[in-house]
Amino acid sequence: MFVHLTREEQDILGGSRGVGFQKCMELLVSLGDLYGADGLIPISRAHVSGVSYKTIRDGGLHWLREMARAGAVVSVPTTLNPCGRDPTHWEEMGVTAPFNDKQADILKVYAKMGLEMVCTCTPFLIGRGPDFGEHVASAESANCIFLNSALGARTNREGAPSALAAAVIGKTANYGMHLDENRKAQVIVDVEMPKKAYDIDYPLIGAVIGERTEGKVTYVRGLRPMDDDLKNMGGAMAAWGSASLFHVEGVTPEAEEQDLKGLEKITVTSADMADKRRRMTDAALNDVDLIAFGCPHLSAEEIIDMAGFLEGRERIRPQVDMWFSTSKVVAHSLRKETQILEQFGRVLVDTCQVVTPVENKHKITALNSAKAAFYMPKEGFGGQKIYFGSTEELLSHVSRPK
Ligand code: F3S
Repeated sequence: MFVHLTREEQDILGGSRGVGFQKCMELLVSLGDLYGADGLIPISRAHVSGVSYKTIRDGGLHWLREMARAGAVVSVPTTLNPCGRDPTHWEEMGVTAPFNDKQADILKVYAKMGLEMVCTCTPFLIGRGPDFGEHVASAESANCIFLNSALGARTNREGAPSALAAAVIGKTANYGMHLDENRKAQVIVDVEMPKKAYDIDYPLIGAVIGERTEGKVTYVRGLRPMDDDLKNMGGAMAAWGSASLFHVEGVTPEAEEQDLKGLEKITVTSADMADKRRRMTDAALNDVDLIAFGCPHLSAEEIIDMAGFLEGRERIRPQVDMWFSTSKVVAHSLRKETQILEQFGRVLVDTCQVVTPVENKHKITALNSAKAAFYMPKEGFGGQKIYFGSTEELLSHVSRPK
């Protein structure tokens, strides 16, 4: 064992707080040894993935039950990633009753372990996000990259078991993104934005950067993103590459302190973005049976914008389902806007198009999310054919002015 443990940590490893804590400590120590951590550091909060029955199946549920039975309970505020269905609209989504029952069982176990029962990949949109420099343990790559990049908090890209172990112990191994030296820019990316801007420019930029930079820390120039752009670009970058952190010149909190001397440079042009969009699309818009928004989960601003666009329009193409995925906290805070969206589709909470068994009902999906376009064509994540388009284009496909 290389990780230095305090007396109390050694006692937990020896079983002083029961088997649940012991197993979690063993996991953190193993990770720390693997990555050369000098010790454990306290975290203020955690975010756990491995929530949908679609992704963890019976094996995952069994492991969670074992952990709960062994007395594992979280020591810090801990949120959950989306699960496999909306709690009230699951039948409409094509979710079966046995799946719904298993999903309920998973959530019950997490509740028993003390996790907060809000399932979202954007916990930073509900209440206060972590502060600059705060150490947290987050699974879910989209959340992880936003916390590191946009907020300057510090988290590794945890797996589901390691995020839960950190939540239980209230600590994580001190390596990777927790250390200053791993947060330095490694590649400069100059972006040449298209003359006409669309909301999907940012996810496309994220996808291109992710593909080309293979998890390196990037320093991106030429952008003036809003928070939602950072959310959507980061989600795409983390999916198409394995990035945990990017800096945007003049925007993100650690950008100013970067030393750019001698770094490799690459350029992303509008032609690269158009090419990426073509490569993500293998279906025609007229053929889609589902339009899915909200990967990562929609913010209040995104919902307000979409409701503003749809207000005063009428629904056409009723055969095309439309999903707006968000957290229940955001949805419940926007009654008027969600009512407008509900005239055209379904506002779904606690779930998303990727972690629900979308294939039960749908074969061809239109998306404005480059992260969802990475996962949804894969077998096991829906095997969907994809049309990738801007929000306005997709909303216009199922609505027209009255
Ligand atoms: Fe969130 Fe589901 Fe996308 S968890 S980031 S909406 S794949």
